[in-house]
Amino acid sequence: MGKVIVLDHPLIKHKLTYIRDKNTGSKEFRELVSEVAMLMAYEVTRDMELEEVEIETPITKMKSEVIAGKKVGIVPILRAGLGMVDGMLSLLPAAKVGHIGLYRDPETLKPVEYYCKLPQDIEERKLIVVDPMLATGGSASAAITFLKQRGANNIKLVCLIAAPEGAEAVHKAHPDVDIYLANMDENLNEDAYIVPGLGDAGDRLFGTK
Ligand code: URA
Repeated sequence: MGKVIVLDHPLIKHKLTYIRDKNTGSKEFRELVSEVAMLMAYEVTRDMELEEVEIETPITKMKSEVIAGKKVGIVPILRAGLGMVDGMLSLLPAAKVGHIGLYRDPETLKPVEYYCKLPQDIEERKLIVVDPMLATGGSASAAITFLKQRGANNIKLVCLIAAPEGAEAVHKAHPDVDIYLANMDENLNEDAYIVPGLGDAGDRLFGTK
């Protein structure tokens, strides 16, 4: 079964408080989401393999380590996932970025993919799927299913905030996927918003309503 890893670093907690605050405007909200995504990238990449290379310092030759193995892909779920891309890229500048967009069919209530553009070699990449809010888990589960159908086999899900029911739904559908969070919140309300949450992440990032 996949793990839920809550990254309770003081800097993440501090920034998340201001992200949640309804008086935080879009500019600051965007900056803070990006900063938290960067801090989360640091922890999410902790298990990356290293390989030894030989270099020369100004003083002497030495063996030292660099990142080895699989390359990384960052996949934001549109639209709110876009807010986490720049922060991740600031630590992972060589990562490729794929995009996946889903909407819920009003009749079947099933997620339908309306946009998907991915790096060609996704089966060779460690994929980091990003979406600030893991609410019901419906879109995250569907996005991960679509990625697997295209060959992805190494996926982590990174969200700022989850509801327990969302994390459970993703793990039920995808027991191989670890979920990284800045916080696990209490529950969902009747409109499927996370409580206490931060409101609508997409609207707050992009200033829409
Ligand atoms: N999406 C959001 O943006 N916020 C929530 O609380 C739930 C889903």
